[in-house]
Amino acid sequence: MISQELNDSLTRVGKGSDAGEVLRRYWQPAALVDELEGARPVVPVRLLGEDLVLFRDSEGKLGLIGRHCPHRGADMCFGRLEDNGLRCPFHGWHFNRAGQCVEQPGEPAGSRMHEQIQSTAYPVVEKNGIIWAYMGPGEAPEFPALDCFRAPTSHVFAFKGVWQCNWLQAMEVGIDPAHASFLHRFLQDEDPAEAYGKQFRDTAGDTEIPMTKLLRDFPRPEITAEEADHGLKITALRHLGDGRTHVRITNQIFPEAICIPMSREMTITQWHVP
Ligand code: FES
Ligand SMILES: [Fe+2]
Repeated sequence: MISQELNDSLTRVGKGSDAGEVLRRYWQPAALVDELEGARPVVPVRLLGEDLVLFRDSEGKLGLIGRHCPHRGADMCFGRLEDNGLRCPFHGWHFNRAGQCVEQPGEPAGSRMHEQIQSTAYPVVEKNGIIWAYMGPGEAPEFPALDCFRAPTSHVFAFKGVWQCNWLQAMEVGIDPAHASFLHRFLQDEDPAEAYGKQFRDTAGDTEIPMTKLLRDFPRPEITAEEADHGLKITALRHLGDGRTHVRITNQIFPEAICIPMSREMTITQWHVP
């Protein structure tokens, strides 16, 4: 059992926390591009314990700024999306996508006070269906050139889900190769031709053995973990008893992503973002 102190150090993610400062030095997924489709591209985002609002301005560019107006804290998610920015619903302070206040209607005409008002704002990029934010200090690092970002959009899709746990608990599941034989156990095998896109419904590479059967019949994998440039490489071997060994590799991509095989043709690259 780890101490409360170490647990907090690993799992608290707010600004100034240990893990929060590490995670802020990497691009973080903020939203799906799909979420900004529709008549009003304004969505609340809670990322690394910070409340933000993501919007697309009239130039089609994205802004990720503080959710609470720097004036009286009104919720910018209810802001008016107009004049190429987001206007606070309370007194109408207007912010551009960089979080700069560009207008304060309550001030006398010609006032330059707005020049000193800057909301929180983070750079964002769109990559293969996901909008990513950099919330750390200095220049954002180069975007990681993982397969899922280099592949053409015809070969990737993006999805997200909510897990009610901390980021480390989620990632532990992602890199855990033992649970597949139990949590993902199927009692019947399916035709692999019908398996496209389904986890563990394909046959194991270079065999006619359904993955479902292989996981069922060999629930005690031999697991090793090695450090790699990208994080950890975890190998699960299942010895089939006929001289063959099934090898399944799980990669952890530091700090909080994983890349796992889903079938012979498909991998899942997943971020466990707090
Ligand atoms: S609270 Fe936003 S302009 Fe006053
Ligand atoms: Fe799983």
